[in-house]
Amino acid sequence: MSIRENIDKVLVTEEQIRARSKELGEQITNDYAKENKAPLLVALLRGSVPFLAELIKHIDLDIQYDFMDVTSYEGTRSTGDIKILKDLDTSIVGKDILLVEDIVDTGRTVQAVKGMLANKGAASVKIVTLLDKPSKRVCDVNADYVGFEIDDYFVVGFGLDYDQRYRALPFVGVLKADQY
Ligand code: IMP
Repeated sequence: MSIRENIDKVLVTEEQIRARSKELGEQITNDYAKENKAPLLVALLRGSVPFLAELIKHIDLDIQYDFMDVTSYEGTRSTGDIKILKDLDTSIVGKDILLVEDIVDTGRTVQAVKGMLANKGAASVKIVTLLDKPSKRVCDVNADYVGFEIDDYFVVGFGLDYDQRYRALPFVGVLKADQY
């Protein structure tokens, strides 16, 4: 049985993701080129990997990328309280960082990581996210570049998981109710 049968509806198609990633890549290229800069892309594992791979095809700058894996401490609502599971291999001092996320939901993750990178001496920190759920935000943080704003659905695919499954789907969709 195909796991696609577990999807109730597709919210963002493969073609839409490809087209929007191209637009974002071109916008990022223009914005950084204007200032004669090239960002170090910091992608958050594991969800942002497919988006990173799509986006970098369209950034025509001398970029580099690296990965971080973070998790929030259980039972805490503090915004700055995240645990680093895998840190960057690259020094970020004086670098212009572009944080790559799959989805900004409450905003806790990107706010905490952004603050941490700034504290470690990054020259600038911007955020690019494939998806944004503005209705769920509890932190005063917004992405500089947003692929798609979505309503308050729990979504899977294109990197996003439910219990580590569905990350490899080439589109973003909503699971059938009986799959939870
Ligand atoms: P935030 O810290 O609440 O903004 O959450 C960000 C993280 O929560 C994302 O990087 C995802 O890993 C996860 N997340 C939030 N919403 C969804 C969703 O709809 N599907 C899958 N994962 C999600």
